[in-house]
Amino acid sequence: MAQDRVIIFDTTLRDGEQAAGTRLGAREKLEIARQLARLKVDIIEAGFPASSPEDFRAVKLICENIKTATICGLTRARVEDIDICGKAIAKAKRSRIHTGIGVSDIHIRGKFGGAKYGKTIGQKKANIIKMAVKAVKHSRKYTDDVEFYAEDSGRANRKFLYEILEAVIDAGATTLNIPDTTGYAIPEQFGGLIADIKANVPNIDKAIISVHCHNDLGMAVANSLAGIKNGARQIEGTINGIGERAGNAAIEEVIMAIKTRKDFFGIETKIKTEEFFRTSRMVSEMLGMPVPVNKAIVGDNAFAHSSGIHVDGVLKKRETYEIMKPEDVGSPKTKVVLTARTGRHGLKHRLEELGHKLNKKELDQTYARFLEIADKKHEVFDEDLMAIISDEIYAAKYVFKLDYLHVACGTGTLPTASVKMTVRGKEKQAAACGDGPVDAAYVAIREATGLSPKIENYSIRAVTSGKEALGEATVKIREDGRTFLGRGLSTDIIEASAKAYVDALNRAEASKK
Ligand code: KIV
Ligand code: ZN
Repeated sequence: MAQDRVIIFDTTLRDGEQAAGTRLGAREKLEIARQLARLKVDIIEAGFPASSPEDFRAVKLICENIKTATICGLTRARVEDIDICGKAIAKAKRSRIHTGIGVSDIHIRGKFGGAKYGKTIGQKKANIIKMAVKAVKHSRKYTDDVEFYAEDSGRANRKFLYEILEAVIDAGATTLNIPDTTGYAIPEQFGGLIADIKANVPNIDKAIISVHCHNDLGMAVANSLAGIKNGARQIEGTINGIGERAGNAAIEEVIMAIKTRKDFFGIETKIKTEEFFRTSRMVSEMLGMPVPVNKAIVGDNAFAHSSGIHVDGVLKKRETYEIMKPEDVGSPKTKVVLTARTGRHGLKHRLEELGHKLNKKELDQTYARFLEIADKKHEVFDEDLMAIISDEIYAAKYVFKLDYLHVACGTGTLPTASVKMTVRGKEKQAAACGDGPVDAAYVAIREATGLSPKIENYSIRAVTSGKEALGEATVKIREDGRTFLGRGLSTDIIEASAKAYVDALNRAEASKK
């Protein structure tokens, strides 16, 4: 590979999804993967196939459908994980297995404390190298493209890190991932780590060094760029920077830094940056994680100027206050508005522009819902469309369905709700009082379904503006130690809230299967 190009490894569907408090279904993951392929990322880490049957299905589905990017599956350094991953990626045009193990003393003592891994730290380290080598060799049975992650490299003992990296390259690893798993590194130090790996691992020229930085101290992007400056040639990150805890390096920020400051980095990526905005919104919508307005590159205000001096300057000469062009990241200049007269063809065209390719049945379903909303709202914005398709097409397939909801509330009255639901194919009715109208609806839904998961979080926001704006409710519930995020959409916020709750219950139920 030419040294002046950086490989982009997107892990939105694995590290990003892992943290979102929700699990995406295989169909949702495929839609995001299609958009990542349009963005032209080199590698899509589609999931961790051994973690759940749904993740296995998602990785397999993406391998069967996306042929323009390498599709990667994550594993632990375990033969069972690798065999499952090997099956999931079997149909890919180009596949990669990403396997690895913890390498810092903290990880080794914490995760491999048992005597079976050795009594002393030295014995444990020798065993870890054996496990790593075995995992890489086993992965090579399924693909020639094997990436090894040395988890918590940012805090690892250098000598041991060099030793394990040398061993896995000899075993057949073609990419070495140096993750700052805990977001502990400082740019100068992390850049130094990459330079030292290059200088001290004797067979390093046989592999590509990758950087995978977390954002706990807000330095994931800076650390990734320092890694590149010191010789790493693959960057791992996620759209909108989503990921464990404070997130991963935001891919759009890293890439726009490389592009805007080509004078400094002197390297390129093959990313189609005009797809950033669309990708950002799709990920935000499907994972229920809003993009802050001031977020670099893709926030609503990223290219907005308000103070008199700035507006005047930009109007006279754009470069006075803008270092990038909004069109370079696909930031829309105008909002597209559709109406009931737009027609099915116009709707299909706009959905495709937004990155959603629906089959005929899905389009019919979306069109019916679009007309319903266009009748109420007169004007339908892109955000409405995205919300409609998440609700209609990507929402979890139901075992619980809300057929009817009536809520009575007002000053001086006790809020009450009655619901009619289809619960596992049977009709159920329930009525209840609550602290407010949403609470009353939730109590009634619990009565009807017989479930009472803990609600961890609830929020409601207007998706678009105006008094007929669509309200989108998001509810996070906890069931059997796992969290599930449900979304609901309606011009009526109580109905949106009830739908979100039922969606979360359906997702929890689907995961049990
Ligand atoms: O942060 C990390 O160390 C990871 C590895 C599994 C690559 O996500
Ligand atoms: Zn990570």
